[in-house]
Amino acid sequence: MNNKILIKNASELVTCSGFKPKHGSEMSDLHVINDGALIIEDGVIKAVGTTEDILRMYKEADYDVIDAEGKAVLPGFVDSHTHFIFGGYRAEEFSWRLRGDKYMDIMKRGGGIASSVKSTREASRQQLLDAGVKRLDSMLSFGVTTVEGKSGYGLDFETEIKQLEVMKELDEIHPVDVVRTFLGAHAVPVEYMGRADDYVDFMIESVLPYVADNKLAEFCDVFCEDNVFSVEQSRKLLSKAKEMGFALKIHADEIVQLGGAELAAELGAVSADHLLQASEGGIEAMAKGSIISTLLPCTAFSLRESFANGRKMIDSGCAVALATDFNPGSCFTESTALVFALACIQMNLTIEEAITALTINGAAAVNRADEIGSIDIGKKADIIMLEFPSYKFIPYHVGVSTVEKVIKNGKLVFDKEKGGLLC
Ligand code: NIG
Ligand code: FE
Repeated sequence: MNNKILIKNASELVTCSGFKPKHGSEMSDLHVINDGALIIEDGVIKAVGTTEDILRMYKEADYDVIDAEGKAVLPGFVDSHTHFIFGGYRAEEFSWRLRGDKYMDIMKRGGGIASSVKSTREASRQQLLDAGVKRLDSMLSFGVTTVEGKSGYGLDFETEIKQLEVMKELDEIHPVDVVRTFLGAHAVPVEYMGRADDYVDFMIESVLPYVADNKLAEFCDVFCEDNVFSVEQSRKLLSKAKEMGFALKIHADEIVQLGGAELAAELGAVSADHLLQASEGGIEAMAKGSIISTLLPCTAFSLRESFANGRKMIDSGCAVALATDFNPGSCFTESTALVFALACIQMNLTIEEAITALTINGAAAVNRADEIGSIDIGKKADIIMLEFPSYKFIPYHVGVSTVEKVIKNGKLVFDKEKGGLLC
């Protein structure tokens, strides 16, 4: 394979065309070209059209040709909310939850996030890097070409920086692009127990400036939740982060309706995430403020909570993104296939809306709608080809990846027919 690829005869070329987030009813239009084709040169999409049009303008002999007859072709998926760098696992905690223990109760008695903090502090850089490569490989097999990853399992200077540096290295060595988010305010560490305000000050004075100066993260996030960080503490941290040049995200209204969605709108955050308990006012504020509402159905499923009201959000004009929330506690899955199935079957999103949510709106949730998330001329050639003729197979093949090939930056990096990963 060289740098020039021609994909032809795609039964559906699902372009998701657009350069900004899609709101409300705009999410339904996938801009599908039947019998579609595209040209990739130097990692970038150069031409898009019907096979007839493309073959009239470009000579097949000049390209490596992929015949997508009977296959649907889409933009690579953007998983815009994960916590994929961590040490250790929490299978035991999962079994307690199955017996009826609540997520926040386990956290209050020192388990949950705190347990991953202990194992992540203990893990070497190399261990985190090795685990990271395996997890990115798996995400790639589900069609993910860009992933957002958060720190937040260090809660001290060294380990927060270690997590971010590991993600920076992964971005350089692995085909999947990694967008980094600083989530130092993921929980109050034992050293600061009962002193959340002091911990927020420590983050603002000692950690955030280092992260900013060394360009270790683009986004700053906070777990705004009862018994974690209050709305006031979250506002203080995020306002300072904004002054330092970070774009903002918020873990908002996940367990309790605190007003996280409203805070996201007030601060002009890029996204508010989770939103299981978002209020009507919060939904309106997100729609009006063009805040991406990022929904994480696998987390609600794993925690046995009711799903976020994605239907109402879209009907109210919000731009909804979907993501896995891959993490060792509340949601240990990188399966975009399961995200699609739950979004369509349980949350009543249409298949078209769900695809928009994991492509162009996912790209918008990481501030990259102008460069990824759709098959448009000039965008990065991050493309997936399904084993099936229609995008409608994605949620229909419940929980199973329908992805046959993945092209990242114009290079074929995954091909099920050739045994999977090629990188
Ligand atoms: O997005 N809600 C807070 N943070 C993560 C879970 C982290 C964990 O349980 O380790 C989430 O679900
Ligand atoms: Fe999360």
